[in-house]
Parts: sequence; structure tokens; C-alpha cells
Amino acid sequence: MQATNRPCALVILAAGQGTRMNSDLPKVLHPLGGVPLVVHAMDAGAALEPARRVVVIGHGGGAVEGAVRAHDETAICVTQTEQLGTGHAVLQAADALAGFDGDVIVLYGDTPFVREDTLARMLAARAAHDVVVLGFETANPGRYGRLVMEGEHLDRIVEAKDATPDELAITFCNSGLMAADAESLIDLLKAVGNDNASGEYYLTDVPALAAARGLTATAVACDEAETLGINTRAELAAAEALFQRAKRSEAMQNGATLVAPDTVFFAHDTHLGRDVMVEPNVVFGPGVTVENDAVIRAFSHLEGCHVGARATVGPYARLRPGAELGNEARIGNFVEVKAAEIGEGAKVNHLSYIGDAAIGAGSNIGAGTITCNYDGVFKHRTQVGRNAFIGSNTMLVAPVRVGDGAMTGSGSVITSDVPAGDLALGRAKQVNKPGLGARLIARLRALKAERRGR
Ligand code: UD1
Ligand code: CA
Repeated sequence: MQATNRPCALVILAAGQGTRMNSDLPKVLHPLGGVPLVVHAMDAGAALEPARRVVVIGHGGGAVEGAVRAHDETAICVTQTEQLGTGHAVLQAADALAGFDGDVIVLYGDTPFVREDTLARMLAARAAHDVVVLGFETANPGRYGRLVMEGEHLDRIVEAKDATPDELAITFCNSGLMAADAESLIDLLKAVGNDNASGEYYLTDVPALAAARGLTATAVACDEAETLGINTRAELAAAEALFQRAKRSEAMQNGATLVAPDTVFFAHDTHLGRDVMVEPNVVFGPGVTVENDAVIRAFSHLEGCHVGARATVGPYARLRPGAELGNEARIGNFVEVKAAEIGEGAKVNHLSYIGDAAIGAGSNIGAGTITCNYDGVFKHRTQVGRNAFIGSNTMLVAPVRVGDGAMTGSGSVITSDVPAGDLALGRAKQVNKPGLGARLIARLRALKAERRGR
């Protein structure tokens, strides 16, 4: 769809405080689908392969920069020390855009639903116009800027505070997104003043300034839902509901079965393969991939993990970051797995903790087995070979290795390596006292009768 083959850059405005969130956390760091709002804006244009991503930070700048760079270490953060308006904010990106020959798209860090093809349409419209604004029709124009159109030309944008009654009646509104050639946008912004009702430097002055210089501006329309901005916790919750609804239908369209879609929660990057089955009440945190034909049973919680094809997880399982399940592995009820590879076809079916470990293909980990990975200061690894059999309630005190085809007796505390093929017994030897059980019971019963009689 992109008519121009020019490179593009994104400038994301994220300096505002977000006062109405009533939060110590900067607004753009509040999570939607498990990742900060600002990450949604950063990823909106991913398919356009932006040459630069510039984020304008201000309030809570350090924390915002941390989240931005954790997501994309090539992103450039620029600081707007005083929030003097959206035009002033974009101007802070001037140095970061120096030498960049291409188009800029301005986005807001608190507006997570803008579609990739909408951005592509904006760039396509650049073929015929110097400035392209993203607009939307709405029944409630409220305090949005109004787009004053003359045919396909955008004459100017009027902020609600500065508008005449006639202008307020316009229902085609400014989303805030804008595309223009990087150099000319910065040039135009230098001419923006703050003589308006808010005393701010408005980005929205750009179309009128462009027209005054003989450049042209237009507006591309999108659905109102795409431009939804988040200002309050209630809006954040409503946005999360919209996000989840979209992810559920996407998962089903891609061939996963969700038995009770409304009870399954996805993250921004959840990937489910074909014919994956998800039972009710499952939560996917960030970073989960589930391969084809796997089954995620009810009440499981997964994050930062990979589930191989035809594997089974749950019910009531917890997969934490670094859990890597091979094909056909089985993780059963009340099992927690963290930073551990579970080999192909291996089974951890009941009541276990497997952390900082590698379990070889075909091994069976008995009920209640724990990898004791933490000594109070350091973490240590447990390695179990292929086709090993770990008896129920084995404590694997790491660092420790159990070789291929080895066994541990149930209830063992394994503190040293078990060679391949060996059986390790690490528990007190059982002693039977003939007849003592019956005699003991008889004595206790007699004692009880005597106490009642008193
Ligand atoms: C802006 C537009 C308005 C549009 C609306 C859509 C202007 C002047 N007005 O109004 O036409 O209909 O968005 O939601 O552009 N920001 C900064 N630094 C600043 C000011 C803002 O980073 O100095 C960021 C904010 O954090 C926010 C975004 O820019 O993410 C928009 O700012 P906001 O003050 O919410 O603009 P509106 O008044 O809503
Ligand atoms: Ca706003």
C-alpha cells in the first residue's frame, strides 16, 4: 500500500504525566496486554520497518526510557523537560532526526490501537500531499481538535478550546497522528507559536502553516476505535477488554480452539499454533509460544515460555520464564516450571517444582519432586538425563546430575550425582517392629477410656 518507498521514522509522544491515572507510574508504563502502553505505540508501525524510533519522554523519563530500551535498544529517547505542547514535544526530536531523509509519523504513547495498515495509508497519502493527518468521524467530538476540510484538502485544525460554534459542530476530528517529510515537519514546527487558549505549542498548527507556504495537507480517516486514547484507569480497563476480545478472535481465526474465550487472557505477543486447545481460565503473560496441537488445560498460568507440539499443560500448571517444553512433554496439575527444559515426551505430572533444570527426553519425574535450586544466596542447576525415573517426593539438591536411565527411590534427598543406569536411595532405611503397631493402638485406646472414666 505504501506508494512512496521512502524510509520512515516514528516519533512517539510520551512526556505527559497522565494526571487522571492518579498513579505514581507514568501513564505510558501502565500495561495493556501485559506490556506498557508505549510498547504498543512503538510496535504499531513495525511492519513499516521504521529506520528510527524516537520516543519523547518527560514525566517519569528514566522509567519510561528503561521500558522503551528494554523493548528496542535501538530506540532513541529524547527528553522534553517542560510539557509546552505537542508541537514543542515533536520539536525535541529534531536532533534525533538530523540527517534522516524520509517521512516521520507522529504517534501518541497512550494510544495503543492504531493499525499498521492505517499508518501505511497515511504514508501512501503522502504521495500527493505534504502533510497527512489521521482523522476520525465521531458522534462525540468533545474536546478533540476539529479538522476543517475543503474537499480533500485539510485547511487547518482547530482545537476545541479555540473553536467557533460553527467549527465545534464539525464531527471529523484529529486523532493526533500526523505524517510528513522529516525535514519539512521540523521546519514547520519551528514556526509554531503559542498564542492560543492553552498557551501551548500545538502540533495541530502545522497544516495551516504548511498551506501558508504553498504546501498541501490532507486527512486520512480511520475508525474511532483505533484512536482510543487512555487517560483514566477506567479507560485502561475498557481498553484491556477491547484488546482481549481482539486477541481471542485472532487466536480462533488462526486455528486455536478456545473452549470459553471470555475466560482466556492473552498478552501482546502470545502466539498459539494451529489446533492448539485452550481450556477455560488460562492466563498468558508476555512471551509465550504454543506449538501446534498442544493442549493448555484449565486454570493454567504461562509466561515467557515455549510449549512444544502436542504437549499437555495443566490443569492448574504454572510455566514461568525460561520454561521450554519439548514436543509431547506433559506438565500436570500443581506443577511449576521455571528456567528449565523439559525434553521431548518427558512427564512432570503432579505437584512438583522444576527450576533451573534440564530434564532429558522420556524421563518421568514422580509426584512431589522438587529441584532444590536455591541455597539462600545462589541458584544452582539440576540435570536429569534421558529416560530417567525420579521417584515420588525426591529432593534434587542442586547442583546435581542424574544420568541417563538412572532411578531415584521415592523420598530420596539426592545430594550427589547419580551415574547413568544406577539406582540412588537417599533416605533412612525402614525398620519393622513385629506386633508393635497393634500393641501401641491398644494402649492408646485404653488410655482414652481411662481419661473418660475420670
Ligand atoms: C491532542 C490534539 C487534538 C487531538 C487530541 C487527540 C494538539 C494541540 N491537540 O489534544 O487536536 O484531537 O490530541 O487525542 O495536539 N504530550 C507530550 N508533551 C507535551 C504535550 C503532550 O509528550 O508537551 C503528549 C501527551 O503525553 C499525550 C499526547 O502528547 O500522549 C497528546 O497530548 P494531550 O495533552 O493529551 O493532547 P490533547 O489535549 O488531548
Ligand atoms: Ca489526550
